[in-house]
Formats: sequence, structure tokens, C-alpha cells
Amino acid sequence: MTQFSEETRRRATEVIARYPAGRERSALLPLLHLVQAEQGQVTPDGIAFCAEQLGLTKAQVAAVASFYTMYKRRPTGDWLVSVCTNTMCGVLGGDRTFETLKEQLGVGHDETTPDGTITLEHAECLAACDYAPVMTVNYEFFDQTQASDALQIVGALRRGERPEPSRGAPLCTLKEMSLQLAGFADEREGALAEGSAGEPTLAGARLAERHGIAVAGFDPDTPIAPPADTPAQPGHEPPPTAKEPAADRKPAGEAPPADLQDPGKHPETAPKGKDNQRRSR
Ligand code: FES
Repeated sequence: MTQFSEETRRRATEVIARYPAGRERSALLPLLHLVQAEQGQVTPDGIAFCAEQLGLTKAQVAAVASFYTMYKRRPTGDWLVSVCTNTMCGVLGGDRTFETLKEQLGVGHDETTPDGTITLEHAECLAACDYAPVMTVNYEFFDQTQASDALQIVGALRRGERPEPSRGAPLCTLKEMSLQLAGFADEREGALAEGSAGEPTLAGARLAERHGIAVAGFDPDTPIAPPADTPAQPGHEPPPTAKEPAADRKPAGEAPPADLQDPGKHPETAPKGKDNQRRSR
């Protein structure tokens, strides 16, 4: 088994200590990022390391590692280029961008260039549809990127340059990014700078503002109501039901039907006690 570095072992101990006693297995996701930060992928050795650290079986760790696409099971380049080919980006140019990069780099989905610098993948919605078509490099966004832009970005990466993302932190390698995802802050200057939301993100809010549309009775400071069987803490009483109609005159805050107010009286919301289970058969 590969011996992970002393630094990785120290960091693993630090990650595990962030979780309550008896809940150490919750540290699995950051630990998988941590082993990827050292090896550039999650290898069988990385799986064994996580299992040993957390008292899990290797099968349990492998089941988690193979579920999430952010854990790479094959050697991965320094630069993970993800092109969104989901509907919005796809029709606006994402499909063409992916095909162009495939041809230019000579690799397909989830494959790495022979020089080991770039791994290409297509992604299904990168959660930035308002900036479509988008691509990311190690999860940093390049907005409204067409095929010609993508070629320039990839060309710069292959020359050893670090093109500037449209927003967010400056680029770092996949190993460096994995360390951040394991819970260790990016110490570079400017890495934590915050920008305000861009115009494409705010377009819906601006339209609502112009047309006087608002959620009726919404108070952004509304506390989260405790579960029904938990006594309310002083100062955390559940908010009253909104009574004001919405600005678009649709009714708001109407009380639910009487049989839904008492879960015990409604077959779909009734507790699954023995009696109710018997009734539903
Ligand atoms: S469809 Fe591309 S980011 Fe959502």
C-alpha cells in the first residue's frame, strides 16, 4: 500500500477531528478529496487509506468514491476542462465547443491528453445557465464561451499559462483544488475576493422589481420552524401564515384543507404507525 505523506496523514487527522465523536465516517467526502490532492486521482491505495482512517470497509469507501463524478478513478490532468452540454448550453454552442475540443485535443469524454495536462469531460448543467454556454477549468467558470474561446483557453493551458476565469478565484491545479475541497483554504492573494452577482443572474429579480412582483409576506429573517414534535425555543416561534395577497393578486398563504392540518387524518401524511400501515394495505 502506498504510504501517504506525513502532511496528508496530519491533514486527515485534522479533517476527522472536525466531526463529532462517533460520527467520524462523515469525514469520508473530504478525505477522498484529500487523497486525490496527493495522487491526482482516487486510487485503490487512496480508498484503503480512507477506509483505514475511518474504520470503514474498502467496499463502502469505493461505493461512495464511484458515485460522485468529482472523484477521479483514472489519472487526471492538471486541468480538468468541463464543457456543459446540457440543453441550455448545448443549443447555445456547448455541443459545438465539446466537439471542437475533442477534435483539437484528440481525446473523448473523461480522457486525458498524452502529455497529461488536460482532461476533457462534458458536464450536464454546471449550474450557471444564466451565463450559457459555460465551461469550467477545475470548477472555475468561463462564461458565455464559444468554441473559438475554448480553443484559446485550452491553448493557453497547454503553454503553461493560467487564463483568468470570468469570476471566482484564479486558476489552480486539480490537486490544489482537491485540497481546497478537502477543507483547506486557498491562501493565495485574491483567492477569496467576493464579487457581486452579475447582471444575467439578477435579470429575474430586476424584472420582478419592475413589475412589482414579490413573494407575499416574505421576511428574509424568518427563522426555520422546528419539527412538529419539538417544543419551540423562546425567540424561535414559527412565523405566522402569510395573509397578504401577492402583488400579482394570486391568493397567498391560504390555510391547507382541514384534513391536511392534522396529519393523522390524511392517508398520505399520516404517521406510519402500525395501525396506519395496516390500513394502507
Ligand atoms: S445548462 Fe449549462 S450551466 Fe445549466
